[in-house]
Amino acid sequence: MKRSKRIEALDKRPVNLDGYINEWPEMGFAAMRSPYDPVSSIRVQDGKITELDGKKREEFDFIDQFIADYAINIERAEKSMAVPALEIARMIVDIHVSRKEILELVSGITPMRMTEVMGYLNVVELMMGMQKMRARRTPGNQAHITNLKDDPVQIAADAAEGALRGFAEEETTMGVARYAPLSSMALLIGSQVGRPGVLTQCSAEEATELELGIRGLTTYAETLSVYGTEKVFIDGDDTPYSKAFLNSAYASRGLKVRFTSGSGSEVLMGNSEKKSMLYLECRCLYATKGAGSQGIQNGSVSCIGVPGAVPGGIREVIAENLVAALLGLECASSNDQSFSNSDMRRTARTMLQFLPGTDFIFSGYAAEPNYDNMFAGSNFDAEDFDDYNVLQRDMQVDGGLRPVTEEEVIRVRNKAAKAVQAVFKQLGLSPVSDEQVEAVTYAHGSKDTLPRDVTADLMSAEDVLKRGITGVDVVRALAESGYKDVAESVLNMLKQRVVGDYMQTSAILDKEFRVLSGVNTPNDYMGPGTGYRVEGERWEEIKKIPHIIDPRNI
Ligand code: 5AD
Ligand code: CA
Repeated sequence: MKRSKRIEALDKRPVNLDGYINEWPEMGFAAMRSPYDPVSSIRVQDGKITELDGKKREEFDFIDQFIADYAINIERAEKSMAVPALEIARMIVDIHVSRKEILELVSGITPMRMTEVMGYLNVVELMMGMQKMRARRTPGNQAHITNLKDDPVQIAADAAEGALRGFAEEETTMGVARYAPLSSMALLIGSQVGRPGVLTQCSAEEATELELGIRGLTTYAETLSVYGTEKVFIDGDDTPYSKAFLNSAYASRGLKVRFTSGSGSEVLMGNSEKKSMLYLECRCLYATKGAGSQGIQNGSVSCIGVPGAVPGGIREVIAENLVAALLGLECASSNDQSFSNSDMRRTARTMLQFLPGTDFIFSGYAAEPNYDNMFAGSNFDAEDFDDYNVLQRDMQVDGGLRPVTEEEVIRVRNKAAKAVQAVFKQLGLSPVSDEQVEAVTYAHGSKDTLPRDVTADLMSAEDVLKRGITGVDVVRALAESGYKDVAESVLNMLKQRVVGDYMQTSAILDKEFRVLSGVNTPNDYMGPGTGYRVEGERWEEIKKIPHIIDPRNI
């Protein structure tokens, strides 16, 4: 066939490198509705749910049972279920109906009814819903802080820069799992150099992660994964009950916890039971609520390729974020794993959470270049910082970040690297040379840094665990090596777990360690003239992008 040059040019566009598939509900490729989804229903007898979404109690799997017993407000159930889905959908976008009223109403509906409600909302309405239902008044953002070498000095510098740029939470993970104790320590120190009060997390194997948390080397936990079908849950050696137990283990030591879920996981693990992605995700969110978690990281997360491939898939992603908010959960709304070769597509996908604002717009913005992201690449990375800042400025939207100056970046990176050098020395861990500090200070990524002695690092990492080093030892080492201000910040992070206020829904800390949460600073949006607006000091900050024409210089 003679080829059209137009079509040939289009065929070569990045968007055509992405994978697409139409609905195939038998294998779970259905975004918001599958012909095999149940019809919503509830039956309450003697204060117990005896029928849920078309199933009798005898037919319940463990997810149904957990939801029926712990996630639905039984007193409200019959009244809430009497309200048609369309009416609930309309109330969600009605500026005269408050967030509180909606939270109360939907506390009594079932996962399938929630799925039906979402079916009535288009993307703009879903965004309107999110603008009102987000728990915290101000939106926030979370970063990934990782590198290819697991270099703790770079982790500290990138964490400091990320904190300076506005991230309220920073998480790390490793290429070599055994690095975890050093990664956590470097992240903790670096974050506090950049901006006191930033929360940190180390995504590791469950027992290690819990131990690092208990020792005060991290301040929150996030990857407590839940799934929408029983088979997939069991595949992960878990049940909703075991996750609830793990949640309590963290919470009992004063760590902030959120769960992780998202569409596509059941498809990827081959057990979607022919149900729509949204319905399965609703089950995950109800299980999360039932387990007593204050929040969720969702929006497909690492499985974004699946909803990203089907019709209406990106609409489904904002729908599942909104369901989290409707259940009163903090929502860290994904935008983490990259899913498209097209810059247009990846930006458009992010706008659905960026424009209304969520508790954490990204649940993992890569604060390093793409090649250093050990979470497999984020939708936005360090090379997009300026684009992101301009988007905030163009639209007068608070995306949780701020422009910075080169001098500030160099200063905090250097201080963080030196603080880690000092702490490692003080604690007798693997040495950090002055040349390493220098390289990391000015680096973009690990291609610009010096090699680490991996054997020495791993021995030190093991030593941290063996010697029982805790956050208090880090505080002491910082104080004894002249980093009193950083020592004080790390100590304040440890005090938070005794105070416990940052375990409230959607809590973050400001630089004075004051809690901003859905409880003390709740979202009060009810249409124009209400809710959080970008103005005053924050607007001035957003306007100050680096590349700007100064009329005085013309
Ligand atoms: N469902 C459940 N857990 C997920 N994670 C990422 N995406 C999902 C999802 N869709 C969790 C996994 C992974 C970590 C990065 O986040 O636990 O290891
Ligand atoms: Ca995350």
